[in-house]
Amino acid sequence: MSHPETGPYVIVNGCSISYHLTGNIPVVNGRRVQTFNAPTIHAERPTTENKGYEARGAGKDKGDCMGRVSASAPGKCILFGEHAVVYGQPAVAVAIEQRISVSIETLEGKSESWKIDGMQFDPKRHPHVQALRNRLWQPKQGAPNLSIRISGDIPPASGLGSSAALSVAASAALRVARGRWHNTAEHQESRAWSEGYSSQFEQEDVYTIENRELDANRNGDAGKKVHYVSDESVVDLDECALLAHAVEAVAQGGRASPMDASTCAHGGIVLLSDTLESEEDYLYTRRLKMPEGEREWHLHTIQLPKSTEEVFLVIGNTGVHAPTSQQVAKVATAMKENPQRMKEIETIGIIARRGIQSLKDGDFTAVGRAMTENQIMLQGLGVSCPELENLIRAAAPTSLGAKLTGAGGGGCMVALTTNPKQTSEAIELAGGRTLISRIGNVGLSVDECKELPLWATEPSA
Ligand code: PMV
Repeated sequence: MSHPETGPYVIVNGCSISYHLTGNIPVVNGRRVQTFNAPTIHAERPTTENKGYEARGAGKDKGDCMGRVSASAPGKCILFGEHAVVYGQPAVAVAIEQRISVSIETLEGKSESWKIDGMQFDPKRHPHVQALRNRLWQPKQGAPNLSIRISGDIPPASGLGSSAALSVAASAALRVARGRWHNTAEHQESRAWSEGYSSQFEQEDVYTIENRELDANRNGDAGKKVHYVSDESVVDLDECALLAHAVEAVAQGGRASPMDASTCAHGGIVLLSDTLESEEDYLYTRRLKMPEGEREWHLHTIQLPKSTEEVFLVIGNTGVHAPTSQQVAKVATAMKENPQRMKEIETIGIIARRGIQSLKDGDFTAVGRAMTENQIMLQGLGVSCPELENLIRAAAPTSLGAKLTGAGGGGCMVALTTNPKQTSEAIELAGGRTLISRIGNVGLSVDECKELPLWATEPSA
């Protein structure tokens, strides 16, 4: 088993972020992506010792601050293992090309509250943003009010991870906007952070579902504010995925798997399992206390062969809304009524493992077959529906395989195909709205940074 290392770095649209995946960075259509080893940057940046540090925002005339940060993150699509993952079987999600972008600026003048897309911020409408504000941008510490713009092409509430993508992009934008204090000059290491969230710290508070302000300052020597960095290099994929998972849990009444948050943050293809998968690259383990008890997930990434660029996913949206919780409850009832049916869940796990191996081998005919087999099992569990089956049937003649993706009962299906145009047309003719994506797209990116920081805490805070 390999473990995560820092780097390589990814540059997108002129900004660099640390990329905690081992192996290749996915290629993205139309986006400038390149890799290189971690550069030695910011040695010349001001620290507290040289008194070059200067906080913007809170302590300054807000009219002077014209800073802006934009970040974006992809949506996700589940290739194998939905529902069975609830019972410990592996599930695989892939980052899609469709993205959500979040742009933040400090509000000039005396604004009373935040603005989202020009409208007054309503925490009830944007629970993810509110939960992130509590963790990264606390008004009681003097953080200035923000104007947030959200844009993108991921349809909401369709099982494609739009809220996780929003949360990942917003957490990155807020982190870049406020910078980070470190307890040594070795600021690339999360161990040397004096503030922030990481899988490597004991920090249960990040998941606290109360709507209170949290403080990620560390105690003792680890909390010494020695070295301040305020640029895009302070973004950490683990921190963004952890925060996005935490705020998804807040918004969903304490229940959320980390699949969406991690796939939207890291990009590529993410495997979630209740065991450590020795063949795959380990990312981290997440634990969440849910109303039903503590759950644990081990997250991994899967290396894709170059030939993956030759196949496409066509996602077909039925437009039928079916809440995930209802679908999950339906399967739970079926298992309770007849525990023998757990064999079906185990079979999905076997199919998922076969599908993963075929993906790694670049055998896409076998991947498609496994997807179709997975669909048959999902039908048997009762989570498919006539609208999904109609789109899956329409896709079949031009695709390698097709299945529902996500919770089912409506929402989306996905087809694997080498003829995306034909498959998309067939699905549209059958009444679905389609999106086309390659497999394994870039995860979080920081796309614009101007006049940083937008706000920074004082060394003594
Ligand atoms: O519809 P989505 O994308 O939220 O996916 C739900 C996946 C399930 O396996 C059905 C539930 C879960 O928590 O994993």
